[in-house]
Amino acid sequence: MSEIKILSQNLINQIAAGEVIERPASVIKELMENSIDAGSTCIDVKIQDAGKSLISVSDNGCGMDKESLQKCILSHATSKLSDENLFDIHTFGFRGEALPSIVSIARVSITSSTDNSGEAYVLSAENGGVQEITIAMREKGTSIEIRDLFFATPARLKFLKSDESESSSCLAVFNRIALACPHIQVSFSDGNKKKAEYKLTDQLQTRVRDIFGKDFIENVFEIDIKKDNFRLRGFLGVPTFNKATSNYQYFFINNRFVKDKIFAAALKVAYLGLIPQGRFAVAVLFLDLPFNEVDVNAQPQKTEVRFKDS
Ligand SMILES: Nc1ncnc2c1ncn2[C@@H]1O[C@H](COP(=O)(O)OP(=O)(O)OP(=O)(O)O)[C@@H](O)[C@H]1O
Ligand SMILES: [Mg+2]
Repeated sequence: MSEIKILSQNLINQIAAGEVIERPASVIKELMENSIDAGSTCIDVKIQDAGKSLISVSDNGCGMDKESLQKCILSHATSKLSDENLFDIHTFGFRGEALPSIVSIARVSITSSTDNSGEAYVLSAENGGVQEITIAMREKGTSIEIRDLFFATPARLKFLKSDESESSSCLAVFNRIALACPHIQVSFSDGNKKKAEYKLTDQLQTRVRDIFGKDFIENVFEIDIKKDNFRLRGFLGVPTFNKATSNYQYFFINNRFVKDKIFAAALKVAYLGLIPQGRFAVAVLFLDLPFNEVDVNAQPQKTEVRFKDS
């Protein structure tokens, strides 16, 4: 065996990127979640070449000042976590690893402003480090452009599926985040085509209809059940409106989209005898519970959670 060495920070970030950034859609998830955490009411997403040549996410959130901009791409740099709150997390992000991971594998430009004076800063970064910070013009908020995803880890490109498939994964991730934030206006463009645009609404039903269409909303019924500190709300399909895959089952825990076996099993049991075997019920379900009842730090992509009492 050869001598033990400490890995370089950029290599450490590339290893983290291997877990967090699997494909272009993962970048969209991380950037949109950052925009939501920043308090945005409007988020615009654009991709080119299935996200391989460009992913851009622009928001009207709180923005970052020059100092924060310099820090945001550093490993374990976050404004969302303190020593006291690892088990009481109210934001989508908390690991401080999305931006450093992305900067280790792509060319990144972040333009941000914390007020409407028009003055902004733009940071360019690649190979894990800041290249330059210059002054720019921008209203309050942040725009991030990710170019040449995986140029620094080209082996990853070989694991991607066809452009068509990656593009539709990007739109699918966009839609599932859009489901969780009807109070935010969101749009998605692929190349020169606007694929989705949802106006802000205080009604989940409106967002569900915007995303899945009229036929969908006519075949689901709304539920809203409160018990103790828990609330289960959303839409369940009528039994005849069943599907060949589980792709129309969406589970959110405190607004975070999760893949959860308990939820899926509960749904299966609830519909037992009502839908044919091998078919899947349709569900868009939000479980809201005290934040400290659920551990969201279970896995780097944050799509699995642990319950205190499952
Ligand atoms: N769109 C944005 N608007 C304002 N601040 C942002 C934005 N995106 C990132 N930031 C700042 O940069 C920091 C680092 O972002 P990053 O996504 O790397 O980490 P995180 O969101 O804290 O945690 P995680 O790795 O779990 O996503 C954030 O904590 C936040 O302070
Ligand atoms: Mg984040």
